[in-house]
Amino acid sequence: MSRKASRPAARPIGLFDSGIGGLTVVRALLKLLPRESLVYLGDTARVPYGNKSRETVIRFSTENTLFLLRHRVKLVIVACHTASSFALPLLERQFKQPLLGVVAPGVAAALAATRSGRVGVIGTAATVGSGAYVRGIRRKRPGIKVFQAACPLFVPLVEEGRLNGPVTERVAREYLAPLKRARVDTLILGCTHYPLLKGVIARVMGRGVRLIDSAEAAARQAQALLEGEGLLVAGSGRPRHRFFATDAPDHFKRFSARFLGRPARQVSRA
Ligand code: DGL
Repeated sequence: MSRKASRPAARPIGLFDSGIGGLTVVRALLKLLPRESLVYLGDTARVPYGNKSRETVIRFSTENTLFLLRHRVKLVIVACHTASSFALPLLERQFKQPLLGVVAPGVAAALAATRSGRVGVIGTAATVGSGAYVRGIRRKRPGIKVFQAACPLFVPLVEEGRLNGPVTERVAREYLAPLKRARVDTLILGCTHYPLLKGVIARVMGRGVRLIDSAEAAARQAQALLEGEGLLVAGSGRPRHRFFATDAPDHFKRFSARFLGRPARQVSRA
């Protein structure tokens, strides 16, 4: 190993997700911390996590974390909301390395945004069922009213590239109707894929409802955490980004641009 890579701050940031959606967090990180190197693992062989049991998601998340730690990352970001909801507390007890999920950053951003104290959360069936967002919000501010809705069809719609159009609009209207009725003023996009549906969701929810993009909130929290630990990369060397998929790396590469804004240059099989 080179002397440079052995310095903790020079090590990459690691991220994992159930598949390709976590690239929304990579995109936010590239924008905020362009000098950091990244290692991304997409568990494409076992996606989706959003309809799996807690035990299974914990097992997969532990394996994914071990994979990233073998790449000597300085921080593990659990970019998947389902994995953050079910597995993060356990991973934090199991590993001593810095870990960051996407739930806490979304909660903090929502609490800063709400004026009425009525907050909505949308996510996979597993994320909503776990109650992780509700607990996270109530722990910080018990008086907040939280309303949740699972939106399972959003993930396949995004993966099929249906970011707009009548089908997506119809599905969004149906899923979001209870949250509109609840008059939330802030809505947490509690799934990797939902930032890509911001346009439709904003239209359906109407003006005055703040959408919380957890990908951006997580990138800001990663920056603060690394800064606090003295682990932000120093100097102006070229960052190196590596992408791994547990299955079909070519497919991952082909669809990466939708989430990343540009195609991932090289995707290897994990
Ligand atoms: N990455 C998942 C999440 O953020 C969505 C896709 C899946 O169900 O695995 O919850």
